[in-house]
Amino acid sequence: MPEQFPKTKVDLEDLALHEGAPVLLRRALAKLAAGEMLEVRGDSSELVEQLAAWCRKEGHRYLGEGKGPNTHRIERGAGLAPLMASGSHVAEVADPQWGLAPRGARIEAGGPEFTFTLCRKREIWAQELASIYKQAVGNQWSAARDIPWENLPKLPGDLEAAVCQIMTFLTENEFAALYVPARFIARIHPHYREVVEVLAVQIVDEARHAEAFTRRAEAGGNGLGTSAVSGQLSLQTLLEEPDFTTATFLLCVMGEGTFLTLLKFLEEHAPDAVTSTLARLAHRDEARHVAFGMEHLRYVLEREPERRSLLAAAVERRSRMLAAVSGLSPYVYDALAVLAGGGISPRQIREGARQVAALHREMDHARRERLQSLRFDAEDARTLSTYHTKNFM
Ligand SMILES: [Fe+2]
Ligand SMILES: [Fe+2]
Repeated sequence: MPEQFPKTKVDLEDLALHEGAPVLLRRALAKLAAGEMLEVRGDSSELVEQLAAWCRKEGHRYLGEGKGPNTHRIERGAGLAPLMASGSHVAEVADPQWGLAPRGARIEAGGPEFTFTLCRKREIWAQELASIYKQAVGNQWSAARDIPWENLPKLPGDLEAAVCQIMTFLTENEFAALYVPARFIARIHPHYREVVEVLAVQIVDEARHAEAFTRRAEAGGNGLGTSAVSGQLSLQTLLEEPDFTTATFLLCVMGEGTFLTLLKFLEEHAPDAVTSTLARLAHRDEARHVAFGMEHLRYVLEREPERRSLLAAAVERRSRMLAAVSGLSPYVYDALAVLAGGGISPRQIREGARQVAALHREMDHARRERLQSLRFDAEDARTLSTYHTKNFM
């Protein structure tokens, strides 16, 4: 066997293995191809005793002492597991073997396989993710810091009770809006991290909304109102939707879209500055959630136009499941009428009821516009808007 010459050398001086010498050894060995030789010089007595064992552990071959004083020879082995690249561009299909590695990283082969079930770009992607995320992070607010709690007036009993009832209804809807994306995040392949990031902030938004609305109900001394079966049945059908795109359509486009109109109405008719500020800040967040939903649906429908009829079928199916639910819960309807009328005299109730009817018309109008901007034709948009749950979400 011809004598092998070292391809490169490293001088460790008196650095011992336990003091970090492997950092320099690995850097030197990384420059070699398998089979090439490294000469190591070092004064630490540890090297003589432990270098061979270290080489075995790292997948290299210790060839013994070298010619000079305090020198050793190492043949580079295959080293640790081979590396693969996940690429820095967003792939159409993400490999389960990439696991939790960030996109663009080199990845050791042979890692565990994760069961991410949403691993195709077209199942989850949207345009504008970076700008939606940037806005979301930039517009975070705090229920403790940004709400004028000290200005909450003592309202007449009926008005305060109406606000508390509406806060109760809002809070249970916020929870649904939190749980739906939360259910899907764990299924999305981390290769598509922008989607995960947008959904994660969305969850934080909903947690803050639930906290703030509950706090408003408690701040006036009344506490929370009544949660209706009809509302919970409607939200359950949303929580149980197994398909990401359908769930996003039902939640972000149909539900949160309808809530945009509701929150505007509440901001306008709120009897106190705390309630109107809450409605305004929540509306700003919901507008982003709706924007994500619209962008995702646009992305999917451009590639699979036939999905429109499946989405329409999902709205209709949900409406059939809720056939026993005749309309908005009377607790919520009455509270909205009292709030918008400003009290409970017959004159005020007439005005409040008129405003609530106008709210329903405006919700329907906005839903149809949104559907048509997703290129549902006018007739389908009208039908779907009518089928949408009377519970708003
Ligand atoms: Fe919300
Ligand atoms: Fe939301």
